[in-house]
Amino acid sequence: MSRPDDRGGSEPEAPMTPNDPAAPVRGVRVHCVLVAAGSGTRLGDRGPKAFVELAGRPLLAHALEGLARSGVVDSIVVVGPAGRIPDADAASRSALASAGWTGPLAVVPGGSTRQGSVVAGLAALDDLAAPDETDVVLVHDAARCLTPGAQIRDVVEAVVGGHGAVIPVVPVTDTLKRVGEASADGTEPVTATVDRAVLRAVQTPQGFTCAVVRSAHEFGAERAGDESLAATDDAGLVEAAGGQVVVVPGSMEALKVTTPWDLRVAELIVAGR
Ligand code: CTP
Ligand code: MG
Repeated sequence: MSRPDDRGGSEPEAPMTPNDPAAPVRGVRVHCVLVAAGSGTRLGDRGPKAFVELAGRPLLAHALEGLARSGVVDSIVVVGPAGRIPDADAASRSALASAGWTGPLAVVPGGSTRQGSVVAGLAALDDLAAPDETDVVLVHDAARCLTPGAQIRDVVEAVVGGHGAVIPVVPVTDTLKRVGEASADGTEPVTATVDRAVLRAVQTPQGFTCAVVRSAHEFGAERAGDESLAATDDAGLVEAAGGQVVVVPGSMEALKVTTPWDLRVAELIVAGR
């Protein structure tokens, strides 16, 4: 399973297409649910994050082009903001066409939580591609719009290699403290220093066999409607259901664009490509 080592560097100039003989994963169908239905509150008053521009193109377009250029994704469901589906559909088709990707695409409205949006995406995937239980399903944040193709392929390869649930992670570099309740003057007391050596920051795409991600979402279904209970990632649902999750290396370029600062970092990454 040789592949171009483009982690953190430039993507290959000619996009690999599904079933390209150079693609690292042959004979296995790979589907992606790309969640892009969030409101982008922490990015400021710019409207839904999927349409916020980075280097002149929407974050959603960058994310889709990254998936297309990974060369391993056969079908894609975009979960977009409920009131903006025609815009999400147009932006998605345009981005994928410019990347030379011609697979099945569906664009559907999301839910009130990320977990709810993934559920909507998985339902649409059933209609779009009727995945087999052993197919690979990636769940990816559109907000991680610059994720390198190598990271996407590494996750797929680990699922194909026999792991039912795979997540890309990076080490934690800051020293971490646990804090207690704030006192009357608003300051929070430190109660412990946490051992960061055993901690990882989690990225996407997260990869699963179709059977694993389906059953995890069925198991956690009652949490999906409540932001305070909903899972912030899909692997968390697998863990809650008693399943095993393994990690592969992620990358700094797969940062989640959350704040205006992140958007500035993303602009620098694009400028450096
Ligand atoms: N997401 C989604 N549906 C939701 C909430 C989030 O599809 N109801 C998606 C976002 O579009 C994003 C990913 O989940 O791609 C991670 O969410 P986050 O970074 O929190 O994005 P937002 O929810 O848009 O941002 P904020 O929390 O600042 O409003
Ligand atoms: Mg959010």
